[in-house]
Amino acid sequence: MAIGTAGYTAMLAVMALQRLDVTPASGDVLVTGAAGGVGSVAIALLAGLGYRVIASTGRRETESGYLSGLGAAEIIDRAELSAPGRPLAKERWAGAVDSVGSHTLANVLAGTRYDGTVAACGLAQGMDLPASVAPFILRGITLAGIDSVMCPARRRAEAWARLAKDLDLTTLDAMTGHAVLADVPTLGDAILRGEVRGRIVVDVNR
Ligand SMILES: NC(=O)c1ccc[n+]([C@@H]2O[C@H](COP(=O)([O-])OP(=O)(O)OC[C@H]3O[C@@H](n4cnc5c(N)ncnc54)[C@H](OP(=O)(O)O)[C@@H]3O)[C@@H](O)[C@H]2O)c1
Repeated sequence: MAIGTAGYTAMLAVMALQRLDVTPASGDVLVTGAAGGVGSVAIALLAGLGYRVIASTGRRETESGYLSGLGAAEIIDRAELSAPGRPLAKERWAGAVDSVGSHTLANVLAGTRYDGTVAACGLAQGMDLPASVAPFILRGITLAGIDSVMCPARRRAEAWARLAKDLDLTTLDAMTGHAVLADVPTLGDAILRGEVRGRIVVDVNR
């Protein structure tokens, strides 16, 4: 359960990057919402596969050590990406796993290198996408949508098989907290305040 929907979604996103030929040799891969569930597992998977990972977080002061421990090589402040930006920016990463949406996803697309791919799976900042077509028609960028719910059975099975092979269990332990059912309301508030990191397994029998 430590992997959960977030970890499985992160795997689907990594598979999408690989399907679209983003390899460790292509360049850096950015992970937004880095200290969250999807972000944490995505960092661990990508670093384990040999990618150089840039982690974008709003909690650099407190979570840099945690993110480096998962395998992030560079940590940037999410404020760099969260405000309205230009249609095209300096090319900084070959691929990205974005769980944030809105202006962040627009800026991630604008900063993606020629022929790169961005896997979009979340909306932590917002459901809107205030972007232009410039990254698509001038840099050949691909925006790959990730949906864990209706994902076909064959790809779902592949994702879980890949998780069994590619996700280091010690790293998974390091990103996993534990709670009991009575903790859930408090945890819910903490999630909304952006204070929970990684994954939390709730033991429903305690
Ligand atoms: N497509 C699918 O099938 C699928 C499956 C699972 C989840 N999701 C979506 O993916 C997203 C991430 O899920 P999760 O389980 O990883 O959630 P989570 O654990 O709550 O993590 C979300 C992370 O996003 C960042 N964040 C939060 N508010 C933000 C804001 N206003 N602006 C920018 N960044 C913000 C925070 O990271 P930092 O503190 O590091 O900045 C936070 O830890 C959610 O939107 C969820 O609904 C989609």
